This record gives sequence, C-alpha cells and structure tokens, in this order.
Amino acid sequence: MKPFYGFPTWHIIVNLFYGIILLAAALIGFLLVHSLMIILILPAAYLLWRGISWRRGGFLEEKLRIREEFMRIVKPVDGERILDVGTGGGLLAIGYAKAMKSGEVIGIDIWVPMAGGTSLENALKNAEIEGVADKVEFRRGDARNIPFPDNYFDKVVASFAIHTIHYKERDKAFREMIRVLKPGGVLAILEPEADRWIKWRVDEKLKEKLEYLSLRNVQFHPITMTYPKKRTVYLIVGVKSK
Ligand SMILES: C[S@@+](CC[C@H](N)C(=O)[O-])C[C@H]1O[C@@H](n2cnc3c(N)ncnc32)[C@H](O)[C@@H]1O
Repeated sequence: MKPFYGFPTWHIIVNLFYGIILLAAALIGFLLVHSLMIILILPAAYLLWRGISWRRGGFLEEKLRIREEFMRIVKPVDGERILDVGTGGGLLAIGYAKAMKSGEVIGIDIWVPMAGGTSLENALKNAEIEGVADKVEFRRGDARNIPFPDNYFDKVVASFAIHTIHYKERDKAFREMIRVLKPGGVLAILEPEADRWIKWRVDEKLKEKLEYLSLRNVQFHPITMTYPKKRTVYLIVGVKSK
C-alpha cells in the first residue's frame, strides 16, 4: 500500500474547470459549428486526466524525491527533537523518523479543509505504511500558537505550509517556530518562490525579516520541482542565534 501525501487542490480545480469547458466546446462545436472542433477533445482529455490523477495523489514519487532533497540539505541527526509544522500527511515528519535511529519527531497541523485533502488519521496511516508508527507523533497544533515550550526542538521544518498562512499572520508563525527552537537549532522551510495573490515572496526582505527574528546564516537553496508545473522552489534555512 502506498502513502497518500495530499494533492494540489487549487491546480486540480483549475485543470478540471478548463477540461470541462474544453470538452463542452468540443462537443457543442462538433454538433453546431464544424466537425473539426472535435479535436478540442484531446486537450480536454489531457486536463481532465491531469486533474484526476493529481486528485489521487499521482505525484507521490515527486513528493518523496523532494523530501529526500530536503533531508540531503538539512540532514537528520540521531537523537534530535524535530517538529514538522503544517505536516499534512506527515511527509517530512515521517521522512526524518525513518532516517533517525533515535530522537523525537512530531508533526503538527490544523488540517485546514481543502488544503491538500490530508488529515490526522491520514498522517497516522502513512506512518504505519512507511513503518515508523512508533517513531513519530502527530497532533493538532497551530503554527501561530505552537503547543510546545521555548527552546525545545533541534530542528523545526515545514514544507509548503507557511506561505498558505494569511500574510498578516505569517510573522506570528515565524516567531512561534523560532521560539520553540533551541539556540543553535535549525529552521528549514520549503516554499514556492512567489505568489502575488497571497503576498508571498522569497527575497531579501524575507531574509531580513528572519534575521530580525533572530535567525543567522539564512540561506535560500533552490530546488527544481515538476508539479503542478516545472518550477523552482526554495528551501530556506537559518540557525537560531545563541
Ligand atoms: C500544502 S499543505 C502541505 C502539507 C505537507 N507539509 C506536505 O508538504 O505534504 C499545507 C498544510 O499546512 C497546513 N496549515 C495551514 N495553516 C496552518 C496553521 N496555521 N497551522 C498549522 N498548519 C497549517 C494545512 O492544513 C496543510 O496541511
């Protein structure tokens, strides 16, 4: 059985929407305008197939590859305490738990409806499927109010979670993630380069903000992803000042 690590909700809606429009245009055009319009059925079928295959988690290999890439840059260390914020189906938490012989790995999320189709039950099941049910813990917890004491974790990680938080609340999440990090601990978040609709951008301003919030040595590592389209995303890594 394969784990399920969510789907890109918005891209599925867009693909299905345009797929249905093209399908309708192909059929109506064929019947009422010109027989050649049936050719539109090809792009329609492609868009519908893409939407449906993503809905079924059809890019699992790519998600696992990205996880490997993440952990190649931010290496697991035995005995550490790791928090995965906005864990979804538990992708990073489970990855670190698999790679570590000892330590404590916890994933938190509020499991926003329509944010990838994951749930607490789904994360627990994935941990079982990946053989680490006894090495990882999941619980409900908000990035803006993390239910752990100060200076608790060696690493706080997140993938594609922070940019989804409303832009007015993101600083709260950054503050919280840094608060629960031990001095010298590592914050590592994987995010898209930019999205102007939600006011997200990986740039000097973000770096300055993280430094202001007491991270040092902030670096942006570009990673190429192939879904929902070929693009560069960034692993943002910084160390909490001592
Ligand atoms: C795109 S999914 C990514 C899931 C997972 N990290 C992955 O890469 O597969 C974004 C996740 O962030 C979670 N999320 C959004 N706002 C959150 C918040 N304030 N606190 C905790 N999790 C949040 C959503 O519920 C969702 O599971």
